[in-house]
Amino acid sequence: MTDINHFLVTGGAGFIGSHLTRALLAQGKRVTVLDNLSVGRRETVPDAARFVCGDVRDPAALANALTGVDGVFHLAAQVTIRGSFDRFYQDLDTNVMGTACLLQAMDPSQVRWFVLASSMGVYADAENPKPIAENHPTKPLSPYGIGKLAAEGVCQQICAARGVPFTTFRYFNTFGPGQAYTPYVGVITIFVTRLLRGEPPIIFGDGEQQRDFIHVEDIVSGTIAAVGRSPGIYNLGTGRGTTLKALARIITQRLESSIAPVFVPPEAYELRFSVADITAARKELGFAPTRTLENDFDAVVAEIKKR
Ligand SMILES: NC(=O)c1ccc[n+]([C@@H]2O[C@H](COP(=O)([O-])OP(=O)(O)OC[C@H]3O[C@@H](n4cnc5c(N)ncnc54)[C@H](O)[C@@H]3O)[C@@H](O)[C@H]2O)c1
Repeated sequence: MTDINHFLVTGGAGFIGSHLTRALLAQGKRVTVLDNLSVGRRETVPDAARFVCGDVRDPAALANALTGVDGVFHLAAQVTIRGSFDRFYQDLDTNVMGTACLLQAMDPSQVRWFVLASSMGVYADAENPKPIAENHPTKPLSPYGIGKLAAEGVCQQICAARGVPFTTFRYFNTFGPGQAYTPYVGVITIFVTRLLRGEPPIIFGDGEQQRDFIHVEDIVSGTIAAVGRSPGIYNLGTGRGTTLKALARIITQRLESSIAPVFVPPEAYELRFSVADITAARKELGFAPTRTLENDFDAVVAEIKKR
């Protein structure tokens, strides 16, 4: 990474943000975390990081968190596709206006790189399971995707106007230890948690929809690789699709459970095919995901069992 020494990680008490914070500290960087702990947990933030408990929409918390910072990873968000229909106002307020507040508070002479965590939720559905590249049409099926696309656009324009290098990552389905259990986010965490409780996994539709499951450590290494390399928009996934039916089968077998999934009608916001073409990230950032669900499954289960 470059000579940037002090990073702000917004949402750094959350699933991906806490892994990112630990990786930055391990590389000898200083880290400040800003998180309102709406989902994140204080104990996941290492003592070596400075922690500011506050909201990305609060100018005082932002001014405090940005003190001495020369690079920003903006991950704080309300992260749910399904939930964003019920809570569309709160979610857009955080994901769009929270991003605008952060841009407003940032001193462009001080911040030398800005990275936004966006989502595969910005894309239009694909007609077949072929991996989609960054030029695939954007047509979000949820308020969450709309908010992420708006955040991308405003960051791109404001960073360009102010001369701050800017990278957007469109993360695909991220799994790994430390993901909070909610009924909405992280199908692997949800399926494992339900099966461990003796409840069936619930599949919306016929289960033939495909997702690209990427381990959180791969997401973190790709995200960190952005700094100092070609700014731009990058997918972060594995390029490998798995149907939800197959996922349920793999998890059920690995947990030696006999509980069968329950199929319920599909939802309008469900993408049929969501698999990343990662050619751009490979070429420009040297991104090379190495982890697999097969190899990392036991660690995920062990962590969920501990809760
Ligand atoms: N997990 C995935 O599969 C996935 C996929 C695509 C994109 N993303 C994006 O990656 C980023 C991190 O996601 P995650 O899975 O770690 O989710 P997470 O919910 O674990 O982390 C988000 C963090 O942001 C914090 N937060 C929420 N609203 C805030 C606010 N107003 N002010 C300050 N902090 C606030 C939460 O407390 C939480 O700690 C998000 O931007 C998300 O949209 C995640």
